[in-house]
Amino acid sequence: MHGGRRLEVLRGIDLTIAQGEMLSIVGRSGAGKSTLLHILGTIDLPSAGRIIFGGRDLSTMSPSQLAAFRNKSVGFIFQFHHLLPEFSALENVMMPALIHRQSPRKAAEKARELLEVVGLQSRLDHRPGELSGGEQQRVALARALVLNPKLLLADEPTGNLDSETSRGIHDLFFRLNRELGTTMLIVTHNPELARSLPRALRMADGLLVGDETAGAEQNDAADAPADAPADAPADEAAKDDETDKAEQPSAPAEAEVPAP
Ligand SMILES: Nc1ncnc2c1ncn2[C@@H]1O[C@H](COP(=O)(O)OP(=O)(O)OP(=O)(O)O)[C@@H](O)[C@H]1O
Ligand SMILES: [Mg+2]
Repeated sequence: MHGGRRLEVLRGIDLTIAQGEMLSIVGRSGAGKSTLLHILGTIDLPSAGRIIFGGRDLSTMSPSQLAAFRNKSVGFIFQFHHLLPEFSALENVMMPALIHRQSPRKAAEKARELLEVVGLQSRLDHRPGELSGGEQQRVALARALVLNPKLLLADEPTGNLDSETSRGIHDLFFRLNRELGTTMLIVTHNPELARSLPRALRMADGLLVGDETAGAEQNDAADAPADAPADAPADEAAKDDETDKAEQPSAPAEAEVPAP
């Protein structure tokens, strides 16, 4: 709701993601990419539709069950990173583990290890205000990974970073996917990253207008080439194929994500 009016941001998304998949989400600013991630991660609730995670319908969970689910199973890297300003980098990364009642010693050990992976071993005691934008983003990334989430939802995770640091983080994503089977949805405007992920979703005007798996037949409406830049105007052409979905006044968001 906005200003007392119902505002349709997502207008019918039907999506199934298998455990261990890595997907990019591309689309113009305002297409609904962040909103989709928030809904998949249960930060925002859909006005209609369901989200099934590992066979469990999240819409039947109580708020406290949802909070526990989010803390344990989902790692978020937000577009704006939301670090706690009064805590150090190390403490920020430890926080989900402490909330999960891990021992502080174990939490600190894991947090230190992740901060080293993202190149911040010499910034452990800095508060967010004493870190650059990219450094804050890397702290948020380490925090998202501290509990080895089953599902990582990342909103332009390397948007503020130089190409070398970005590449290091992309390598980390692939390593986590390989070693832990982490499922990943990554919103990105980085064409290099989008190309390197096995499956690409394209959004326009609150709809899913493309779903391409590298090396496979196109299985959705998109007629954009696989390597089109994130902001290519292909959105408009693809949209026509989706009118039946768009015409449903409040089409449900239906999504299935893998087992915990
Ligand atoms: N809390 C809100 N209240 C009202 N409208 C909102 C709210 N959040 C998002 N919107 C609107 O929903 C649409 C989709 O927003 P969203 O943040 O999902 O876009 P996006 O694809 O992530 O864009 P960007 O690439 O700029 O981050 C936008 O038009 C935005 O103005
Ligand atoms: Mg966004």
